[in-house]
Amino acid sequence: MTVLITGGAGYIGSHMVLALRDAGEPIVVLDDLSTGFREAVPADVPLVVGDVADRALVMKTVAAHNVEAVVHFAARISAPESVRDPFGYYAANTAKTSALLEALTAAGVRRVIFSSTAAVYGLAPPTPTSETAPTDPASPYGASKLMSERILRDGAAAHDLAYVVLRYFNVAGADHRLRAGQRSPGASNLITLATRAALGLNEGLSIFGTDLPTPDGTGVRDYIHVSDLAEAHVAALRHLRAGGDSQTLNCGYGWGYSVREVVEAVRRVSERNFPVAEKPRRAGDPYVSVADASLIRETLGWRPKRADLDLIVGDALRWEEFWWTNEARRPRLARGRA
Ligand code: UD1
Repeated sequence: MTVLITGGAGYIGSHMVLALRDAGEPIVVLDDLSTGFREAVPADVPLVVGDVADRALVMKTVAAHNVEAVVHFAARISAPESVRDPFGYYAANTAKTSALLEALTAAGVRRVIFSSTAAVYGLAPPTPTSETAPTDPASPYGASKLMSERILRDGAAAHDLAYVVLRYFNVAGADHRLRAGQRSPGASNLITLATRAALGLNEGLSIFGTDLPTPDGTGVRDYIHVSDLAEAHVAALRHLRAGGDSQTLNCGYGWGYSVREVVEAVRRVSERNFPVAEKPRRAGDPYVSVADASLIRETLGWRPKRADLDLIVGDALRWEEFWWTNEARRPRLARGRA
């Protein structure tokens, strides 16, 4: 019985591929390579290049590989970009998820794990934020994911389907053995950009918003190591296979760091300085996003092993250095910035 991983050629999906492959599980990846990379999928893992909304392709893949469970990562992920392109985000994230779920239930798949986001909670949720906090997304990105959660819930009520929704907080770092990491030249997340600045790959870093209602005026986030996040998915799969009920769970550590604290961590771990420019706030950016992470520990027995900012930053740094040291890739990074 095989696990289908959509978006397995992307940043988080490729770490999930490694986690399941390391556990000896049969897997197949479905990815349209719009933002993913063929080389992110190990050569011994089957890769189907195509669209998650392609019903015939999904049904064929499920049948050909005897797919038992699906982990659905494929999506667009940037809140600020979604403010500029709402229709694109609802199409890629909501409409395609609905089509995928329809095809999966028609094909008889009964277990789904879905990548959701802390962005469903909105600009100023009570913190730490538990799963019962009101949802009020501040961006089309967060709304597109919340709608997908609803579609999944309704689909599960109507069909023989159990699911785990994982609401990710801020994912960072890289596989400790450097088998996977952030390959996207246009990545916009803070730890990636700060480590690139420390390595001189980018010219400094911008801090978006220094007048927020937070202790040092900059945004606070719950940063979680991407390999811990992948292991949460493995635990979710175990839960569903054991007959566990459908769940919606936060996935974070339960504490946060400000942008300035992240900048200091990157300077400390890299032992390099880099310039920082203070810029206005970004639209749709929450001030504080920190998980109440107790439910996932209780429900899945998940125990993160890498809950340390310096370790996360260290793995991100080593990956960026390793990946972009290759001269052949450097022009791609320059283009991604443009
Ligand atoms: C990230 C994820 C999003 C996820 C969410 C969950 C990406 C692109 N976005 O969004 O998919 O759902 O976490 O919480 O991975 N910042 C700067 N300068 C920069 C970049 C960021 O100051 O150059 C600040 C932001 O204003 C924010 C913090 O750093 O306060 C984190 O931003 P970012 O890494 O972009 O992540 P989120 O927007 O939180």
